[in-house]
Order: sequence, then C-alpha cells, then structure tokens
Amino acid sequence: MANHNEPIKGFTHERIETSNFLMIVLIVLVLSVGGLLEIVPLFFQKSTTQPVEGLKPYTSLQLYGRDVYIREGCYNCHSQMIRPFQAETLRYGPYSRAGESVYDHPFQWGSKRTGPDLARVGGRYSDEWHRIHLINPRDVVPESIMPAYPWLEKDLVDAAVMPGRLAAMKKLGVPYSDEEVAKAADDVKGKTELEAVIAYLQVLGTAIK
Ligand code: HEC
Repeated sequence: MANHNEPIKGFTHERIETSNFLMIVLIVLVLSVGGLLEIVPLFFQKSTTQPVEGLKPYTSLQLYGRDVYIREGCYNCHSQMIRPFQAETLRYGPYSRAGESVYDHPFQWGSKRTGPDLARVGGRYSDEWHRIHLINPRDVVPESIMPAYPWLEKDLVDAAVMPGRLAAMKKLGVPYSDEEVAKAADDVKGKTELEAVIAYLQVLGTAIK
C-alpha cells in the first residue's frame, strides 16, 4: 500500500526551501490566487460597479476643477474616502460608498491625510470661504499649514480642451450625451481655475444625503 506521508518525488520542503527559483514561483502563485479571489468578485458586484442613486457625471466646469485638483497635488494631503468607523462618520458624515466614485477616472480616494478628508466637503462652506481659503488658507484658518494657491484666481480655464476630456470620460463609461460633449467648451469659457476647483469641491459627496 502507498504511504500517504511520502512526499511527491523531488517536491520536498527541503527542495523548495533551498531553491530560490522554486520558492519565488510558488510564493507568486499562492499570492496571485489569494489576491484574485478577493479582487475579481468586486468587478461583478452591483454595489461596486453601479452608480449610487442620484449620482450625476461632473459638469464641464467641475471636471476641469478636478483636473486642477490633480495637477496641484491636493491628493497628497487630502483623502476622499470616509471609512465606516464611528470616529470618521461623526467627523465627516456618512461613509463613502464605492458607487459614488464610479464616474471618477482615476478615483481620488487616497490614503494620506495631512489635511481633512474631502469626500463630503460639498456644501459645507460657501464659495466665498473656499475662494479666500484657496488664495491664502491662513486668512480663514490661522493655524493652517495648507499651501496657498493664489495663481488659481488669475489663470483662466483652457476651454478648448474640454470636449476632448469629456469624450475621453465617455469612452470610459461616464454617460455624457453627444450634446454635452459638444458644448463642454462653452460651459467653461471665461471662468478661472479657482471657480473650477470650487465648483468641483462643492459637488463632492452630495449624491448621498
Ligand atoms: C501640504 C498639505 C496640503 C495640501 C497640498 C493641500 N491641503 Fe487642503 N488642507 C490642508 C490642511 C492641513 C487643512 C486643514 C486646515 C485648513 O482648513 O486650512 C486643509 C483644509 C482644506 C479644506 C477644508 C476642509 C474642511 O473640511 O475644513 C479644503 C476644502 C482643502 N483643504 C482643499 C484643498 C485643495 C483644493 C488643495 C489643492 C489645490 C489642497 N487643499 C491642498 C493641507 C493641505
């Protein structure tokens, strides 16, 4: 009768632990299977792939503001993901749902919080507060260490790029109509980058009441 404790020929612990190559291949194999088992189902779950009710694609001006947010590196200090813990929800509001960021390419969840989370900052302050705060944070929050962004008030939005940017988002699955893409430039003409960033900040997290 075969001895079941007998290892498969040549495939002993000793063989694996003394071969860098075998060890690496097997570690990669085990981690990939574990990782894929966790990640793949998320691509097929409604709660992670469908927009939450009431979620609207960014307007042309908000989308431009989002691009400025990325360009200026605001994400280096601000996350946009409220975790489902009481300490977070008491401070920032309802925790973030995956369906709130399905139109975000790329999403801005982040993990670095030098400043507060911004996932639900929309509507928390007036446009005027944001204007003063972005030009010089110390004017409204004396102890703030946030950098000042005075150039945003002077630089105009480059309206010509917007139809292309909306078209790119449309390709990624954001439901813009052809008319919205066509008039994307008109919607932002003559606006400053500051107005665009504020329009973006004011819509963050407002899909969920
Ligand atoms: C070096 C880190 C840093 C960077 C970069 C940064 N911030 Fe901040 N931000 C902070 C800190 C710290 C605070 C808290 C103090 C304050 O309100 O100024 C803050 C506060 C804020 C607030 C108020 C949030 C609240 O709930 O009170 C907003 C809005 C904001 N930042 C937007 C931005 C935007 C937009 C950018 C990019 C243009 C940006 N921040 C870049 C550090 C940063």
